[in-house]
Amino acid sequence: MRRPLVAGNWKMHGTRGSIAKLVTELSVQAMPADVDVAIFPGLIYLQTVLAAVADCAIVVGSQDCAVQMEEGALTGETSALQLQDLGCSMVIVGHSERRQLQEENDGVICRKFIAAQSAGLTPILCVGETLAEREAGLALLTVQRQVDAILLELGVDVLRNAVIAYEPIWAIGTGLTASPEQAQEIHAQIRAHVAKYSASIAQELRIIYGGSVKAANAAELFAQADIDGGLVGGASLNADEFSAICRAAGN
Ligand code: 13P
Repeated sequence: MRRPLVAGNWKMHGTRGSIAKLVTELSVQAMPADVDVAIFPGLIYLQTVLAAVADCAIVVGSQDCAVQMEEGALTGETSALQLQDLGCSMVIVGHSERRQLQEENDGVICRKFIAAQSAGLTPILCVGETLAEREAGLALLTVQRQVDAILLELGVDVLRNAVIAYEPIWAIGTGLTASPEQAQEIHAQIRAHVAKYSASIAQELRIIYGGSVKAANAAELFAQADIDGGLVGGASLNADEFSAICRAAGN
């Protein structure tokens, strides 16, 4: 049985004031005991947020890490070991905003994935197609290529300690959610693809959905057989909305 995960990606949002308010509000929410809840604040707020949620069952992760695990001469970067040292336990790799805006390619993402795992962090590997790719019938091929960039390079065993987030780019921040059926179709295909390498790892692998997840659509998405939770952007900045999404992932 896969334990659901709901992760809030705060992206480049918040100030000291608004983040203090958000974590205070989050810490008093009723969170479901059968769901893993994680939040991903901006790097400069990680330490504050880690301290603020230390007594809650909320895990804190980073939105990115450097391509090398250990410290070194990489100006402006943060290593996975430094994140682990702070108290982070997860890291998002390959978010489409970084693939597009920072021109991160599959090779870079693979190195970040290795760095994260080597430092003891669980990577959340983001995959997803553009609208043009979907309309050309290339959604599955795109996502499979992004998964294969890890799978073929590192072997299926690395997916024992990883999460895949399917985030169709056309559904991110647009209010356009993939329908539960559209999302389920890709999730099932990702799982079937991993199962070609290991049926048991595929069965255990958490595949979460991201793209305009809200309290109003979460239950229907999470009810799908292969959707094991969500990676939530905008709606994770509101404690009531985010906790409602977390509860929708529980039993
Ligand atoms: P939205 O929930 O704002 O669409 O963002 C999704 C996302 O990119 C999470 O990583």
